[in-house]
Amino acid sequence: MTFSLPSLPFAPGALAARGMCQETLELHHGKHHQAYVTALNGLVDKNDALKGKSLEEIIRLAHERGDLAAVFNNAGQHWNHSLFWNSLTPNGGGIPGSLEKKLISDFGGVEKFKEQFKAAALGQFGSGWAWLVLGTDGRLKITKTGNAGTPVATGEGKALLVLDVWEHAYYVDFRNRRADFADNFLAKLANFEFAAAQLAAA
Ligand SMILES: [Fe+2]
Repeated sequence: MTFSLPSLPFAPGALAARGMCQETLELHHGKHHQAYVTALNGLVDKNDALKGKSLEEIIRLAHERGDLAAVFNNAGQHWNHSLFWNSLTPNGGGIPGSLEKKLISDFGGVEKFKEQFKAAALGQFGSGWAWLVLGTDGRLKITKTGNAGTPVATGEGKALLVLDVWEHAYYVDFRNRRADFADNFLAKLANFEFAAAQLAAA
């Protein structure tokens, strides 16, 4: 299987008024994400054990395999970024009632959810990701992963929403201020409609 860069679900300039400029998206999607896809295809091409496998199968197969670390990193980054683009929207921040109810029941309130999500985004030392996950026990939870780590690898649940906290995600717009980037995501960019649809489909 040859993997390809998914199109952004919005125009590259569509988030500029919401705190993520066109330059960020062109670099992040067109350069960083494309580089992971290109590298992954090159690695799969050289390894018969990976050919014909889905992206999720490759991630699970390469997880914690020192000899497949580059495969894991590029496959994980391709999967994570593909979810990240869907986690953004020009009309973000609004939480649909179905998801709001679940956030209140599992976190004790929407603000508590936001606090925990932001804490995960800030608490991830170095590069990584903050996640809203539907756990295998049916409860929502917040997790963080380093580098290319992903819930796909661990089977801990279904990822509903993700924030990229690699510096390349926010440096142009927020310089080194990851806390402001996380606040802005939750208030103006997070696609909670998408998360709610993912929850409903689970
Ligand atoms: Fe990224």
